[in-house]
Amino acid sequence: MSDFMSDMKSEIDRRRTFAIISHPDAGKTTLTEKLLLYGGAIQLAGAVKGKASARHAVSDWMELEKQRGISITSSVMQFEYEGMCVNILDTPGHQDFSEDTYRTLMAADSAVMVIDAAKGIEPQTRKLFKVCAMRHIPIFTFINKLDREARSPYDLIEQLENEFGIGTYPMNWPIGCGRDFKGVYDRQSGKILSFGDAHRGSARIQAEEHGLDDTAALDALLGQSLRQTLEADVELLDGAGYEFDLEQVHRGQLSPVFFGSALTNFGVEPFLKSFLALTPPPLPRQAAEGEIDPFDEHFSAFVFKIQANMNKAHRDRIAFMRVVSGKFERDKEYLHVQGGKTLRLAQPQQMMAENRQIIDEAYAGDIIGIFDPGLFAIGDTVCDKAKKVTFEGIPTFAPEIFAAVERIDTMKRKQFEKGMMEIAQEGAIQIFHAPGSGLEEVIVGVVGVLQLEVLEYRLKTEYGVDVRRRGLPYQYVRWVENTDMDLSRLNLGTDSRWVQDFRGNDLLVFGGQWSIRWAEEKNPGLILREFKQN
Ligand code: G4P
Repeated sequence: MSDFMSDMKSEIDRRRTFAIISHPDAGKTTLTEKLLLYGGAIQLAGAVKGKASARHAVSDWMELEKQRGISITSSVMQFEYEGMCVNILDTPGHQDFSEDTYRTLMAADSAVMVIDAAKGIEPQTRKLFKVCAMRHIPIFTFINKLDREARSPYDLIEQLENEFGIGTYPMNWPIGCGRDFKGVYDRQSGKILSFGDAHRGSARIQAEEHGLDDTAALDALLGQSLRQTLEADVELLDGAGYEFDLEQVHRGQLSPVFFGSALTNFGVEPFLKSFLALTPPPLPRQAAEGEIDPFDEHFSAFVFKIQANMNKAHRDRIAFMRVVSGKFERDKEYLHVQGGKTLRLAQPQQMMAENRQIIDEAYAGDIIGIFDPGLFAIGDTVCDKAKKVTFEGIPTFAPEIFAAVERIDTMKRKQFEKGMMEIAQEGAIQIFHAPGSGLEEVIVGVVGVLQLEVLEYRLKTEYGVDVRRRGLPYQYVRWVENTDMDLSRLNLGTDSRWVQDFRGNDLLVFGGQWSIRWAEEKNPGLILREFKQN
C-alpha cells in the first residue's frame, strides 16, 4: 500500500461521527460540553462559568436561540480522545426542526440520545427517535441527571423497550441516585466506579474502582443497603434482559444504555470510552453508482446543510459537507456534480461553534464547512474529478403549516427576494408562489410555527425587511408528478390551490385529506406525491 493510502486508511479508521439528540433540557448541551472537556477541546466546561452563560457557552450561535434558550441550528464540533478523532453533530432540540435533524442524521454514523432520568422519554425524544429509526443508525442512550431524584432504572429501561420497540443493554448500572448517587457498576469489567462527592463538574474526575466481591470496601463506600441492592440488581441484569450483540447495535435494534450525570461529570468518561469503542467508524453511503466505501481513494462528499449569515462577524453562507470517502485536500480541484463544474473549495473550515479554523485536509467521517457563493443545494455531491459519483438526495419533508408573507416596505423588493430565496435554499423553509408570478407575495410552507418566527426575525435582522404574514388554511402539499397536464384546468376543491416552488416544480396545496382524494377522483390521471427527492 502506498503511504498516501495507508495514512488515509488509519486516519479514516480512527474517526467517529455521531449526532446528539434530546428533548430540550435533558442535558444535551451539558453532555456535549463535558465530552469536549474530556477531549481537551475546552479547558473548563460551561458549568463553572456561572449559570446564565453556562448553557450557551459552546454550541449556540443565533441571537434568537439565546433569547429563547433553545437550540435552533446544528453545529459541528471536533475533538481528539485517546487517538480517536471525534466529530459531534449537535441537533436542534425544538420540535419544529425535525427536517433539519433528519439532514444532520444523514451526516452521522450513530446517535446519542440523552434522557432525563426523572422524566424518562419526553415528546421530543419520541419524535427524534423516529427520525433516527428512519435512518437505521445505532442509537446509544445516556440517561442523565442521576445526581437528582430519578425514576427507577428498571422503569426507564422498560419504557425505552416498550415505546421504541428496541432492545436495550445497560452498559452500566447506577448505584443510588440523587444525594445517594455513588457511582456506577460497569458490567463489562465487573467493576464499581465510584466518583466520590467532592467534585462540582468543572474538572475531569477520576473514578475509583472496586470489584463486586470486595464486600468490606464496598460497605464502607456505599453502605450495606446500597451494596445489597446492587448485588441483587447485578444478578437480575445478568439473568434477564438482552444479550449484548454488537451487530444488533449497529443495525439500530439494540441500544446500549449508560447512566450518569453530565453536570457532575459522573459517568461521562466511562461513557465516552465505551461509546467510542462501540460506535462504528465511517459508514458507506449509497450513490447512484452503488455503495461508496469510505476507504475509496477518491474523495467524495455531500452537502447536508446550508446556513447563511451564521455569524454576524462574517456575513456569509456556509455549506456543510459530510466527507464520505477518501481525503479532502485544500488546494485541489473537485467536481460539483449538480453544477457540472470543477471548483476549488474556498476556505474549507472546521467549526467549533463560533470559532472557525481553516483546514488543509479532512477525511471520510469529517464534516467541513465550505464558503458558498450560492452554488450548492442540500443533497449535492462534490467529488474527485477522476471518479464521478452522485449521492442519493435528501428528501424534503412535506410542510404542514402555510402562510402568505409579503414585505411592508414596497421599496425593499430586492432584499425581500434575496432573503426569501437564501433562507429557502438553506432548506429552513419552503417557498411557493402563484404559477407564473414573481415573489410579490410568497407562500411559505413550514413544519412548525417557530420556523415562521425565525423567518420573520431573520428577514428583519439579516436583510433589513419587515414583513406581514397571514395564515393560510392549507395543511397538505403534494408534488404533481405529471408534466403533460394543463394544471390551470384542474378541478379542485375550494380549499385547494395550484402553486409552484422556486425550482419551477408544480404542487397542489390542500386544506384537508378529503380534498386530496377529491382532486384525485375528479382529475383522472393526476399523479400526486408526498415526498420530493431533490
Ligand atoms: P439541553 O441542551 O438538552 O436543552 O439541556 P442543557 O444541557 O442546557 O441542560 C438543561 C438544564 O439541566 C441545565 O440547568 C443544566 O445545568 C441541567 N443539567 C444538565 N445535566 C445535568 C445533570 O446531570 N444533573 C443535574 N442536576 N442537572 C443537569 P438550568 O438550571 O436550566 O440551566 P443553567 O442555568 O444551570 O445553565
